[in-house]
Amino acid sequence: MISMGVMGLNRVFMMMSKANASAARIAAVVYAEDELTPLPEAEAAVTEREGYIVFEHVGFHYGRDSAGAEHFPGQADGRFDGQGRQKSLDDIDFSMKKGGTLGIIGATGCGKTTIINLLMRFYDADEGAVFIDGKDVRTYDKDALHRMFGVVFQNDVIFADSLKENIAFGRDVSPEQMDAAAADARARDFIREYEDTYEHKAVVRGANLSGGQRQRVLIARALAAAPDILILDDSSSALDYKTDAALRKAIREHHADTTTIIVAQRISSIMSLDDIIVLEEGRIIGHGTHEELMENCPMYQEIHRVQMGA
Ligand SMILES: Nc1ncnc2c1ncn2[C@@H]1O[C@H](COP(=O)(O)OP(=O)(O)OP(=O)(O)O)[C@@H](O)[C@H]1O
Ligand SMILES: [Mg+2]
Repeated sequence: MISMGVMGLNRVFMMMSKANASAARIAAVVYAEDELTPLPEAEAAVTEREGYIVFEHVGFHYGRDSAGAEHFPGQADGRFDGQGRQKSLDDIDFSMKKGGTLGIIGATGCGKTTIINLLMRFYDADEGAVFIDGKDVRTYDKDALHRMFGVVFQNDVIFADSLKENIAFGRDVSPEQMDAAAADARARDFIREYEDTYEHKAVVRGANLSGGQRQRVLIARALAAAPDILILDDSSSALDYKTDAALRKAIREHHADTTTIIVAQRISSIMSLDDIIVLEEGRIIGHGTHEELMENCPMYQEIHRVQMGA
């Protein structure tokens, strides 16, 4: 009987030390200091260029910490072969006017998502600077900056909760706003087919929705708070061509003031936009309207030929 008691006590101590170590690790994440703090105006870059969103000769590669030192965890000497030198973005230079639409197209790994990461300041550019509304993005308060955006990331998730909560996403969204956002995202029709409409429960990662339905709920989430800047990173890839076109029409008609960036693999998703950038290995190799690119960008012509079978 005594030995059982001692063993029990021993287990309690083991649990306590495990819990202690886990709690310390959770606290370290929760209380982690933000590496990218707002930069004082005096130190920020200024631009002469017109435009709501301006990228000025931006160069960037992953694997630098906030102090500018390179560090590559995972290898004995702290560096992956060759990775330190390879730039993910090189001399990216473009501007967009307020309410404008921009398409970004290019092969996988060419840096499309990286442009979005710099625009939202998840990372700071190594060279050049990024401006929104005439101000260096580094001077914005992080929350204020992120509130300007409605984004669907490439790997965004649906949470195990009602569709209503998934679209509102913790913000103050009225039922009318939600319904309008769902309509624009072409999600309203399928949501209304559920008996419990917006109260319908999604399961973990939205596994009870089809790929296209998931994307439409995510787009409704991005549109719900009427953002200044809308970003769709590869987020209409699972929509059929007709729905995709209807989505773009709705954005054009109901969100005309919203500056929109659409990252896509399909030419049909971006060909109607004001401006298109063709990326290759982190460089802009073509920039213009669909018609201009069809004339002077061989890479764009090639993608067009493959996709449209022209
Ligand atoms: N967090 C990261 N850390 C290190 N390298 C990264 C990171 N994210 C992307 N990269 C590298 O940067 C380059 C550009 O990646 P990016 O995600 O911008 O590509 P992408 O154009 O969005 O591709 P896809 O069409 O597949 O989404 C790639 O070579 C990739 O390996
Ligand atoms: Mg990407």
